[in-house]
Amino acid sequence: MKKIKIAPSLLSADFARLGEQVREAEAAGADWIHIDVMDGHFVPNLTMGPLVVEALRPITTLPLDVHLMVENPERFVSDFARAGATYLTVHVEATPHLHRVVQQIRELGVRPGVTLNPATPLSLLEEILPAVDLVLVMSVNPGFGGQAYIPASTARISRLRCMLDAIASRAELEVDGGISPQTAPFAVAAGATVLVAGSAVFNPTGSVAGNIAALRQAIANA
Ligand code: DX5
Ligand code: ZN
Repeated sequence: MKKIKIAPSLLSADFARLGEQVREAEAAGADWIHIDVMDGHFVPNLTMGPLVVEALRPITTLPLDVHLMVENPERFVSDFARAGATYLTVHVEATPHLHRVVQQIRELGVRPGVTLNPATPLSLLEEILPAVDLVLVMSVNPGFGGQAYIPASTARISRLRCMLDAIASRAELEVDGGISPQTAPFAVAAGATVLVAGSAVFNPTGSVAGNIAALRQAIANA
C-alpha cells in the first residue's frame, strides 16, 4: 500500500518563526507543507500570499501544497507559480471557469488540485477529475484552524475514492480539517492518501515531531 502523506498546515504554526517551523516539520518526517491562502471574501479570514510561498521555497525541499481559499483564483495562479508552489488547489465554488484555471495551473508547470466545501455536491467534480493531480475533501468549513472534523466527510472521501478509481485516476485524495490521531484513521480507511493537519501538528501541548509521530502511529493499522 502507498505510504500516506502528512501535510502540516502552517495556519497553526508560529508565524514569527515560520521558517523554523517548516524545518522542524521536515525534520520530523512531514511529506508536504500545506499553505492556506485566504482572501477575506471567499472565507472570512486573511492569511498569506505569494510572498510567503516565495520566502519558504528555499527553506525546504518538501512540496509546497498551496490551498487557495480565494474568489476568482485565476487572478493569482501565476504569482503563486512564480513563487514556487508545487500544487495549487482551487475551490469549485470560487470560479465559474474551473476548467480554465486548472488548465492555466498546468500550463504554468504546477500540479492542479480542486476542492469543495462540505455542502457542495461531489458530482460537481465529475468532469474535472481527469484533469487534476489532486482532489481535496474539506472536512471542516474553510476559514479557520482548530475546528472539529465533520463526520459526514468520511462517506464523502469513500465516494470520491470510488469516482477516482472508476477513471483509474492516480490523483492524490487529500483531506483537510479536524485531522487528529482520533479522526485520521477514518479518513485513511475511506481512501485518503494525504492528510492535512494544522492544530494537531502545531500546538502548545506537544512537539512537532511528537505530534507527527502520533498521527503516523494512529494510521499505522488503518
Ligand atoms: C481551514 C484550512 C486548513 C486548516 C486545518 O480552512 O484549510 O488547512 O489549517 O486546520 P486543522 O487541522 O487545525 O483543522
Ligand atoms: Zn487548507
